Amino acid sequence: MHPLLSLRASLLLVGSAVPLARPPRASAVRACARAAVGRPKAVGWDGARGLARRAGGAPLREPFTVLGIETSCDDTGVAVVRSDGEILGEAIASQAELHEAWGGVVPGIARDAHRDALGGAVELALRRAGLSSAAEVDAVAVTVGPGLEICLRVGCEEAVRLATAHGKAFVAVHHLEAHVLMARLACHPPPPFPFLTLLTSGGHCQLLLTRGIGDHQVIGSTLDDALGEAYDKVARLLELPVGGGGGPALESLAREGDPSATPLPVPMRNKPSFDFSLAYHRRLKTAVRLAVERASEEERASPAFRAGVAASFQNAALRHLEMRLTRARDSLGCAPDTLVLSGGVAANAELRRRTPSPRDDGAPWRMVVPPPRLCTDNGVMVAWAAAERLKLGLTDAPDVEHVRARWPLGRPLQGGEEAPLRVSANRNQPRRRPASEPGAVEPTRPKTNAGSTS
Ligand code: KG4
Ligand code: ZN
Repeated sequence: MHPLLSLRASLLLVGSAVPLARPPRASAVRACARAAVGRPKAVGWDGARGLARRAGGAPLREPFTVLGIETSCDDTGVAVVRSDGEILGEAIASQAELHEAWGGVVPGIARDAHRDALGGAVELALRRAGLSSAAEVDAVAVTVGPGLEICLRVGCEEAVRLATAHGKAFVAVHHLEAHVLMARLACHPPPPFPFLTLLTSGGHCQLLLTRGIGDHQVIGSTLDDALGEAYDKVARLLELPVGGGGGPALESLAREGDPSATPLPVPMRNKPSFDFSLAYHRRLKTAVRLAVERASEEERASPAFRAGVAASFQNAALRHLEMRLTRARDSLGCAPDTLVLSGGVAANAELRRRTPSPRDDGAPWRMVVPPPRLCTDNGVMVAWAAAERLKLGLTDAPDVEHVRARWPLGRPLQGGEEAPLRVSANRNQPRRRPASEPGAVEPTRPKTNAGSTS
């Protein structure tokens, strides 16, 4: 195996859940109300972004357009998005084939591929938006972290160059926040804050209470592997294609298999926690490895056996997520009646299908999940996250030093801040939606001029 072989960049994740089942305590309700209403809709925790230099300025006048650039891992994504959420032009250059031979993303190869593809992708996205150069957008945005540092730098250098050359507003975007905020572009009307987010990508698995722009509270995190990482590892074990992440190949193999074929433990089944574990607790990953290693060569070559392992792994992993979401749904009170799924794994049809939808009290639990192609890394999410900031007058100085490989999203729950849990501010007044409004929203808004560079 090549020494440089790396797993996916340390990206993000989140999770969320919902409602009400227990009598609210008055103090908790007050705390909850403070949490939901009294906090600023924007900034909040964002004060700790600690970016090298911050620019001032009034919100841009709408409508405005943003050029967004994403190079944090192995997709070169560029898009032009209008402040009302219209995707004007988009281009994506995937590196899946380049990394296939190595069984994972090789940072140096990824950086060089970003360098080769970025100029063309910017040009194509602008052209698809009907623009002839970056001089015609109002702002330039780029993912500055978390991710592979040498890859982030490629995008950031280009974004700084374009913003400076054309005198445009510049926004440094947090990759994970961009995943989360996609739900507000993808859905009409956009889910209002606060909402719960399940963020599952190649490097992150988190359950978040998203209170506003830059204001995310971590309710649960993975104790070991991220969900996408677990999919990638099991895909590698089954010798499936993993160039652009093994998730899609594993999902499609799992469709052919029996989810009870290989008995596997559901992690942390009896643990009263909101955290996730895909690797060590109850050893799901190890159990999958042992099942494959103990099989005869003949068995291992059999399509039914492989599909059975894939389906059984997916079933145990998603059952784990379901249990976490159900627990959060039953414990979270102040709350949000919207669950947002985001990050690459949210493209998984089985996850989308199984995520708990109705609330225990009968009121609908609205699930919002972007279309699959907007769940995985792309330039649209970067441009849109920046548009959300620009509407609040939040910009950054164009500076390559913003780049950071590690950059946690949100803050952990602190003592006295268990407020969002176990409380129900409106337990006795469940919100009713018109019968015509579905519990699960498959957003429809975007899409024009989108496409791939290939
Ligand atoms: O968000 P993303 O594109 O990049 C990161 O920020 O990491 O997520 C990539 C991860 C990979 O681990 C990939 O295998 C997983 O998302 N993924 C999936 C699916 N599509 C992508 N996992 C399961 N099922 C899918 N359909
Ligand atoms: Zn991502």
